[in-house]
Amino acid sequence: MHEIIEQLEEKRKKAHLGGGQKRIDAQHSKGKLTARERIELLLDPDTFEEWDTFVEHRCTDFGMDQDHTPGDGVVTGYGTINGRLVFVFSQDFTVFGGSLSETHAEKICKVMEHAMKVGAPIIGLNDSGGARIQEGIASLGGYADVFQQNVMASGVIPQISMIMGPCAGGAVYSPAITDFIFMVKDSSYMFVTGPDVVKTVTHETVTAEELGGAVTHSSKSGVSDLAFENDVDALVKLRQFVSYLPANNQEKPPVWPTDDPADRAEMSLDTLIPDDPNKPYDMKELIVKVADEGSFFELQPDYAGNLVIGFVRIEGSTVGVVANQPMVLAGCLDIDASRKGARFIRFCDAFNIPVLTFVDVPGFMPGTSQEYGGIIKHGAKLLYAYAECTVPKVTVITRKAYGGAYDVMSSKHLRGDVNLAWPSAEIAVMGPKGAVEIIFRKDIGDPEKIAAREAEYREKFANPFIAGKRGFIDDVIMPHHTRRRVARSLAMLREKDIENPWRKHGNIPL
Ligand code: HXC
Repeated sequence: MHEIIEQLEEKRKKAHLGGGQKRIDAQHSKGKLTARERIELLLDPDTFEEWDTFVEHRCTDFGMDQDHTPGDGVVTGYGTINGRLVFVFSQDFTVFGGSLSETHAEKICKVMEHAMKVGAPIIGLNDSGGARIQEGIASLGGYADVFQQNVMASGVIPQISMIMGPCAGGAVYSPAITDFIFMVKDSSYMFVTGPDVVKTVTHETVTAEELGGAVTHSSKSGVSDLAFENDVDALVKLRQFVSYLPANNQEKPPVWPTDDPADRAEMSLDTLIPDDPNKPYDMKELIVKVADEGSFFELQPDYAGNLVIGFVRIEGSTVGVVANQPMVLAGCLDIDASRKGARFIRFCDAFNIPVLTFVDVPGFMPGTSQEYGGIIKHGAKLLYAYAECTVPKVTVITRKAYGGAYDVMSSKHLRGDVNLAWPSAEIAVMGPKGAVEIIFRKDIGDPEKIAAREAEYREKFANPFIAGKRGFIDDVIMPHHTRRRVARSLAMLREKDIENPWRKHGNIPL
């Protein structure tokens, strides 16, 4: 027996060494942790239960029958984050460059299946050279199996991808299906085709970092939700992020203890809105002041900054925030902002997370680039996401709510449950200047007349009371009481239960 135990320990030691000390040193020299070191940092100490440590590939071509590493380039299993169960796979770049073989894919699918069976999030730590070249089609089949699992898990359990090395070719499509993609600066990249192919086909010269690095994807393409400084920063923040999420679509979000009183008044909010309606202010100040202990986990801060999204807690429970940002493009809705908001709202809706919307929107962005880019269909995504959403929806209009954008931003008409407005709210078809220039076009040559008409329009429509008269606004509130009013609304809505009509699935304008 003693001998067998020793053999087991020996085998496990070999597996833990992955591709060997030399390759581990090479990984470290690039500023990257190994697959197992990453899991250690991500999970609570001593909670990782590893599976399939002894799985080996079945390839016999190109001398592969002589080259076996137990585990086959991916470490899989489960453990806890802040005491809550998660499943994890972590690709080991030291074994065949973390490339995906048939068995490597089987290991990933196995933990995904179990995550779905017990209703726990799945986290992938990606660091891979793509399809295992020696295996050919078997590897491609493995990828497709993972994609299929990703799609089946979508909306059932949270799926998170942390890109910590290469992720190229078709390999990008598994993360792309997951709910969130995070990346590490300078050591991770994602692209469908790499710089060499780009050079051949389009004659563009571009580095891997420029083409698909963390900064590119978190600012230009919006593929990545956040870019972290290094592996340690990424894994610490990932632990924080997971604390906001429910384990599955049957659960409510976790409730964490807080000492922040729900009725805390924030007098500074009474002066947040500048006197000049064309002056911007920072909407994030409002979000932070409404949140428990001022904590706000923002997503995609460097992409489509005209719409802010992220998670806060109110009375300890997770709330998804969507807010126009007057500091960027005056808070206009454009293609990128619409897509960003729509996908976030759909995540919240799938996972029972209430949506809190702060509105200061002058309208949809005009221009040929927006129209040619399909703002009609992209803007409709945001509208669709709000309209189909059945979780509690609380909306606060702080200033402008003009035109179609008023309708879209979680209005009463799209089943907003509680719609509040600050006294500074202007709810109208458009701003006074634009309105007067259309309905009093004949007076345009007379600045005095136009100014008088504008003042009249402002007086009549640039306020929350017309909407209030019709019940489109439930109440006009003091800005300093926003946290209290939002907290009470969310508490009242806690047991909200509505269902959309049966259908196989809707047809969101993709
Ligand atoms: C097998 C691979 C591999 C792969 C890397 N390795 N990629 N083995 N299949 N796809 C091995 C290398 O042979 C090497 O082994 C070790 O991993 C480390 O690789 P290096 O090249 O030394 O590392 P580095 O210089 O950091 O470059 C990393 C890399 C490069 C950029 C990822 O290895 C690379 O370009 N690999 C090929 C990428 C690729 O074309 N993949 C297929 C994409 S198509 P030794 O023994 O020397 O340590 C695809 C289709 C998916 O993925 C389709 C799904 C629908």
